[in-house]
Amino acid sequence: MSPVQWSPQRWRDLPAAQQPEWPDADTLEQVLKELSGLPPLVFAGEARSLIESLAHVAAGEAFLLQAGDCAESFAEFSADDIRDKLKVILQMAVVLTYGAGVPSVKVGRIAGQFAKPRSSPTERVGEIELPAFRGHMVNDDAPDANARIPDPHRLVAAYHQSASTLNLVRAFTKGGFADLSQIHLWNQQFVASSEEGRRFEQIAGEIDRALRFMAACGIDLDAEQSLHQVDFYTSHDALILGYEEALTRMDSLTGQWYDCSAHMLWVGERTRQLDGAHIDFLSGIHNPVGCKIGASTTPAEVLALCERLNPDRIPGRLTLITRMGATAIADALPPLLEAVREEAHPVVWACDPMHGNTFVSEGGRKTRRFDDILAELKGFFSAHRRVGTWPGGVHLELTGGDVTECLGGFDDIVEDQLHERYTTTCDPRLNARQAIDLAFRVAQLLRD
Ligand code: PEP
Ligand code: CO
Repeated sequence: MSPVQWSPQRWRDLPAAQQPEWPDADTLEQVLKELSGLPPLVFAGEARSLIESLAHVAAGEAFLLQAGDCAESFAEFSADDIRDKLKVILQMAVVLTYGAGVPSVKVGRIAGQFAKPRSSPTERVGEIELPAFRGHMVNDDAPDANARIPDPHRLVAAYHQSASTLNLVRAFTKGGFADLSQIHLWNQQFVASSEEGRRFEQIAGEIDRALRFMAACGIDLDAEQSLHQVDFYTSHDALILGYEEALTRMDSLTGQWYDCSAHMLWVGERTRQLDGAHIDFLSGIHNPVGCKIGASTTPAEVLALCERLNPDRIPGRLTLITRMGATAIADALPPLLEAVREEAHPVVWACDPMHGNTFVSEGGRKTRRFDDILAELKGFFSAHRRVGTWPGGVHLELTGGDVTECLGGFDDIVEDQLHERYTTTCDPRLNARQAIDLAFRVAQLLRD
């Protein structure tokens, strides 16, 4: 660690993995200066509220549902798209809360999830080798060498798209759409006609009856804010550190630094080096932070990450997001759970069952099997049951649309169907039916 006191710039003196090779340093610095003069997207007080909610998760009293796109897109950006994503996350939250009786903390991979770490600096598209697509905040996904040149002006475009996405998210969650009396409207047509949709309708009907019963008992439901509004938080991978630095502001109330680009920031499996720039950056901001943990992570590494990211052991500050793969999790996770419990670090344990289960289909498309996703979740729950720790949450890539990107589920999507509606900008996402199906299964695992 650098001996200099932490500042939002200190990461610049450390090795930073996965940073784009911007063609022109002056333009980049100009853009970052512009960003640092723009208003914050979220407030420090909101980030503190999320820490409080996550503290309940760390204590085993609540469940984290973190979900959204792998990579948000500049091209596919519409009110309908955002609304449909919210619908499915709200539905999943109801299934979890109603089905398992634990409150859910809702965090979107949304309003800022525009940058992607890549395993290789180049990728093959058809016959040609191109610089890798790194998310719309950096370059374009078109299969053309010019489109792949990093353009710093994209950072400003990402900021503005995040602002309008967040504006709509706030309107939907606080302005009546998330009211429990609207619950039937969250069930989209293509979901409602399915088995999962019918199961959801059943819960919705039971909630209706419960509300009518409470009203009949004389309870003033209008006065119960929690029935009419939802707290919904934003998060993304804090990958492009110049962008995150430019949006980091000192909170006037506490004098502490907050990265105001999102409520929660995480670092990925490829950028979590203990002596690297990303961990240093996260160590100084006071937001809730997350760290992805792959199957090869050792107990010593995890403890060192806990010490770096949460030395004061603040419950809710640190979420460890395991992404180990369906087969590896049974052996890889328990020693980490034991080590962290032994040192009494109050972390939230969340399971990302997506990134350890990706493979390329015969037709050349990246995909994941619903059954592998479910198997990793089962492994996560059984590891926690064995060690006696709380399986705190899930971290998923999904969309509200009727895409064909992940295999299996009730519709039993097969490899030949992947091309039909494969629209993701990066990794394969669960469609709304698969997502709700998964929520029912997680609720069952929680009940067990
Ligand atoms: C992601 O969350 O989209 C991602 C790339 O994850 P990881 O860093 O765990 O591979
Ligand atoms: Co992804």
